[in-house]
Amino acid sequence: MTRNTPRKDGLSGRSAASRIGHRCLMSRRNFLITSGATTTVMVTLDPGTAFARQMQGQMTAYPRKFVTRLSSLKQDEPFDFSYPDEGMYSENMVVKLGTPAGGGIGPDKDVVAFNYACTHQGGPLNGSYKADTKSLGACPLHLSTYDLTRHGILISGQAYQSLPQILLELDGDDIYATGVFGLIFGRHDNLQG
Ligand code: FES
Repeated sequence: MTRNTPRKDGLSGRSAASRIGHRCLMSRRNFLITSGATTTVMVTLDPGTAFARQMQGQMTAYPRKFVTRLSSLKQDEPFDFSYPDEGMYSENMVVKLGTPAGGGIGPDKDVVAFNYACTHQGGPLNGSYKADTKSLGACPLHLSTYDLTRHGILISGQAYQSLPQILLELDGDDIYATGVFGLIFGRHDNLQG
């Protein structure tokens, strides 16, 4: 098709590209949920040909780590744990909010977990949970506050990214951490702390 040839669907080339591009868009949050999975593909070419002779794939996945028991959580009393490793900025909290929340697990969909490092400059949010607003903050450095009922989005302050949410899984009464939704402060890859 030449540059000026009309398309059968009546769209200009730019409009079609825009539509296709829109269909392919992936939000940053959706991308980052998988950023812990590192895929390496090795291709060995047969000399003198353009055909791949060998392909090998390697994937590094988030660990599945036991956090605590659902029955041991008391409403509005956070429980601290490390994830996905013991490295920098790996401190998190799990809390039973007492109100349904995005990503919440349990019969009331109200148990959520978040990383403690402020996304602005890594200020420590440990101990800043507020039961009345179901929020974390204000950050002691520049006062950022995050809404734990809505995937840790920013309520106020200097940060411009949501707080990384720890993905949880319930197995009977046992709560497991299985991934991270968002990039942990100070890391270029959540699994390379
Ligand atoms: S480090 Fe938390 S608001 Fe700046």
